Amino acid sequence: PTTAIIVVAAGSGTRLGADAPKAFVGIDARSVLRHALDGIFAAAPMQVIVVAPAGFEGDAEAELRAAAGDRHELGRVVTGGETRQQSVAAGLRALWGDVTTVLVHDAARALTPPALIDAVADAVDAGTGVIPALPVVDTLKRVDGDAVVGPVDRSELAAAQTPQGFPRALLEQAYAVAADAGEEYTDDAALFAAADLPVRHVAGDERAFKITTPADLDRARRLLDAAAP
Ligand code: CTP
Ligand code: MG
Repeated sequence: PTTAIIVVAAGSGTRLGADAPKAFVGIDARSVLRHALDGIFAAAPMQVIVVAPAGFEGDAEAELRAAAGDRHELGRVVTGGETRQQSVAAGLRALWGDVTTVLVHDAARALTPPALIDAVADAVDAGTGVIPALPVVDTLKRVDGDAVVGPVDRSELAAAQTPQGFPRALLEQAYAVAADAGEEYTDDAALFAAADLPVRHVAGDERAFKITTPADLDRARRLLDAAAP
């Protein structure tokens, strides 16, 4: 395949506060990472790079084999870095073959529907990055200390999700620019845009929410319970 997905799973999950790194925490009988990989292998075939925490490469390999079945030749595990950006960079270095489109996806968005992965991959063209985004529903305020200093027009805002998709060559170029500048960005779209490259958005999906806190893990468990036969 000419599309690859880098699944960043190398974080520790400080805010979740579990005993294991977040990717290896069970939602039901299956871990966060396993659910993320099940979604990916239900999408169109693509190369799959799992970026694991140091010391957990073997565990990640086992999850990858279980999810991939007879498509294990599409997958590879590499070790992540201190920051998410460094973990993505490690994933980029591990690509092989004639990949032209790269998706970057948080393992923590474990219940992301396969259709969203396909929609992002399909929307990437030679010059443009693509992110899934949802409208912001909260009423937002600009604050200064405890003072509320003004409203924010939420119609011009959107909440970004993953997977985020990019032409491989331009993403590699943008990562090189960021590394030279010593800049850290909150997501790949911000890093890509900082290199003066254009990004568009497609409709996100509620189910692509990120498991960050214990309440998010509960939400994932409820969604799986509700979906069970
Ligand atoms: N991630 C990574 N390498 C890092 C940090 C984060 O691969 N050094 C990954 C996480 O595994 C996760 C995704 O980036 O899938 C989004 O990060 P986040 O939700 O912040 O996860 P953690 O950093 O693990 O959680 P926390 O910030 O609460 O410690
Ligand atoms: Mg983090």
